[in-house]
This record gives sequence, structure tokens and C-alpha cells, in this order.
Amino acid sequence: MASVIVVGTQWGDEGKGKIVDLLTQYADLVVRFQGGNNAGHTLVVDGEKYVFHLIPSGILYEDKLCLIGNGVVLDPAILMEELDHLSSRGKPVSPERLKISLNTHLIMPYHKALDHASEAVKSEGKKIGTTGRGIGPCYRDKVGRSGIKVADLLDNELFRDKLRENVKEKNFLLTDLFGASPLDEDEIYAQYQDYAEALEPYADNISGLIDNARKDGKNILFEGAQGTQLDIDHGTYPFVTSSNTVAGGACCGAGVGPSKIDYVIGICKAYTTRVGSGPFPTELFDDTGNHLQQKGGEFGATTGRKRRCGWLDGVVLKDAVRINGLDGLAITKLDVMSGLDPVKICTKYDVHGSGYKTMPANIRLVEAARPVYHEVPGWREDIAGCKAVEELPKAAQDYVRAIEDMAQVPLAILSVGPGREQTIMLKNPFE
Ligand code: GDP
Ligand code: IMO
Ligand code: MG
Repeated sequence: MASVIVVGTQWGDEGKGKIVDLLTQYADLVVRFQGGNNAGHTLVVDGEKYVFHLIPSGILYEDKLCLIGNGVVLDPAILMEELDHLSSRGKPVSPERLKISLNTHLIMPYHKALDHASEAVKSEGKKIGTTGRGIGPCYRDKVGRSGIKVADLLDNELFRDKLRENVKEKNFLLTDLFGASPLDEDEIYAQYQDYAEALEPYADNISGLIDNARKDGKNILFEGAQGTQLDIDHGTYPFVTSSNTVAGGACCGAGVGPSKIDYVIGICKAYTTRVGSGPFPTELFDDTGNHLQQKGGEFGATTGRKRRCGWLDGVVLKDAVRINGLDGLAITKLDVMSGLDPVKICTKYDVHGSGYKTMPANIRLVEAARPVYHEVPGWREDIAGCKAVEELPKAAQDYVRAIEDMAQVPLAILSVGPGREQTIMLKNPFE
């Protein structure tokens, strides 16, 4: 029996979906614990591509239970869409296979409207480049104690009451502050009554289900969304998302005590990407950046935006090792680096003449950070078919060892292509 947390070590899109799908074969339960449909987790199974935003990436295994924890913010419209989409591809999901916490907060139409409106009024340089899914406004209501949970939706009177108060407040903000259109309370009410009916069979006590599963000796996999540098506390604030994306978030966001976690695996793309605005010290604007963007197919899985690309950042990686307490690393997309020579790894930042080995807390210092690089030889060979580390060209092996050395965390999984089978597993986190 073991509980394993998967987290992103960078700015998201590290390949968490692929690794979660792969590890699900050893798990009994797969749990999302934060974020919402700002996430886009891609799986390629038997050549078929699936992208999940809300439903845990373990859902393709029919004998596993997928859970959505209290820390997630859930847009019922998107959940319905994902369920319908899976049905249409011959993978229907019954309420026996998917459970949603009664404490999960709901994304409401006014959250999405506020997300768009507040971004629209920000000047260039201040825009966060959110996914526009209502994530920040929903978490703001949760922390401000005016949010609406699944349990509230299932209590008709309570829901109507909370909705009335919220719509009054949000319409004031939308019209008077942002100059946007107001929303209709009755329309939202009617729409969410349908959602209440649809959601009810899935609603449950997730913390309790996990506890029972643990007592029955089951393996549990926690699926992080976003990445460490997008964490609300530890990331490049304010250019972050609104949840705790780090491993500690799994405990709060699923209702599990920290003593019950056995292993934390950090997913690290062999280079770095970022989507949305905010500082990115190793960003490349040259042919190498284009190589990574094109060969890596670096387009957002949620918004379709082009991802910004750059060299691997050791400052980011070492912060992730510390903040998440990483036990092992999964390095992904190493195949994308074929054809680059030399290859660079950022070891520290130079900020106005001072050396920084951890991410500065002041965003203006991050913006001023100049990467200091360590250069290593690259390789030209296609490695997408490699089945063992020893089959990689020597330069690729050395690059992987350099990442391990820098992180001081052992490599557990190496991914050399998007497919489930294009993976080299050195250590099974559940064993
Ligand atoms: P996530 O948000 O962390 O789950 O990552 P995304 O799914 O947003 O982005 C990762 C992209 O890289 C997806 O298109 C994956 O199919 C793809 N991918 C994952 N691992 C590899 C790999 O090792 N090599 C290549 N070439 N693609 C990969
Ligand atoms: P996965 O799980 C990459 C980014 C957005 C924006 C910032 C805030 O696929 O790795 P939000 O809508 O959350 O308020 O946007 O965070 N962002 C992500 N970037 N991968 C993600 O998820 C992301 N989720 C949010 O681009 O910069
Ligand atoms: Mg993604």
C-alpha cells in the first residue's frame, strides 16, 4: 500500500497527464486535489489522444476509482462536457467510477465573467494571461467565505440564498467596476438546478473514501495540476494560479494527513515552457526556442496558446525539490532535445551583479534575472524508441545525469515520447 503525489516542477505542462496515466496501472484510486479546468493533461494511448481538464487522468482504466477533491474548483458545464466526450468515444463514466467532494467549490458564470473582465482592464505587463476559466475569482470567493460548494448546490434553499447574494455583489462589480454586462440570477439558477441533478450521484466524502481505501491497503495516486512556479505561495507571484500546486496541496485539497504520503514524484520537462505572462529567465527567442516549440508541439492543451520555450532552469528545479520534498524525478520530452548541440542548463541567476540560487521573492528581481549557464554536449540521434537509459546516446545520458546531480534526487522515470509505451521506468514509486 502506498500514496504517491505527482507534481509539476516548473510552470505546468511538464507531462503530468502522461505520467499519471502510466502510474495508474499500479494505483487503485486517482485523485485531483487543486486547480480546475485551467489544467490540460494530455494522454496518448494506442495512438489515440485524450485531453483531460477536470477528470483525473486515470479515467481510461475502467477498474480504477477517480476522485475530485475539495481543493479543486469545478465548472459543472465542463464536467458534463468531459463526461459526454468520454461517452462518445466509447468510454462512459458511471458514478461508481468518479466521485466528487461535497466540499468542492463550484465555478459559476460570474467567476468566468469576472476573470475576463479583470484581465481586460489590466494594462499590458500587468495582465496575468489567465486561462479565462474563472479559476481566480472562484478561489477568491472560497477564501472570502462566499463561495458555493457542491453540498450547497444540493440544498436548494441554501443554494438560492447564496446565489442571490453573490449575483447581487458580482453584478455590481461587473457593471460598476468593469463596465461589463450583468448576469441573470434566474437563468443561472435554472441552469444549476440541472447540474445539481446531474452531480448528485457523484457527490461524496472524498477524505473518507481515501481513508477507507488506505485502510483496505489500496494504492492512491494524487494528480497535481499546474506546476511549482505557478503556486499561489511559492510561485512567481502575481503571475501564478490561485491554488497550492505543490505537494502539500494534496493533503489540504483531498483531506489526507501528511503522515499518510509515501512518495512525491516531480515531473520535469527536459527544457522549460511557460504559457501566459510573467517572468521566465531562461526563455529563448531564437532558433533553439523555435526548435523546442515546434518539435515539442508546445501549444497550450487548454487555450491553444503558443507556449514560450527555454532551456532547463536549475533554480526552478532545485526550488521544486525543496518545496515539494521530491523523492524522485520524472524527466519528460527528452526526445525533443535531439538535434540541439550544445545544450545549456541554467545553474543560477545573475541579478544586478548578485548571484541567486533560489527564485527571488521580489518579482522585479525575477524580471531582471539573467541566467548563468553550464554548457554540455548535445546529441543528434532520434531517441523516441529507446527502451533503456543505456540505449541513449552518451551525451543524452550525461544530460540526464547532470539534471539528477543538480537536483540531488534520483531519476525514477524517463519519457522519450508522448505514448504510454515511450517510457523508461527505473523505479516504481508504488514499490
Ligand atoms: P501536463 O499539463 O503536465 O499534463 O502536460 P500537457 O499535456 O499540457 O503537455 C505535455 C505535452 O507533451 C502533451 O502534448 C503530451 O502528449 C506530450 N508529451 C508528454 N511526454 C512527452 C515526451 O516524453 N515526449 C514528447 N515528445 N511529448 C511528450
Ligand atoms: P497544467 O495542469 C500551464 C497559467 C495560465 C496563467 C496562470 C493563471 O496543464 O499544467 P489561471 O487560469 O489558472 O488563473 O491562470 O497560470 N496556467 C497554466 N499554465 N499549465 C497549466 O496547467 C496551467 N494552468 C494555469 O496560463 O499564466
Ligand atoms: Mg497542461
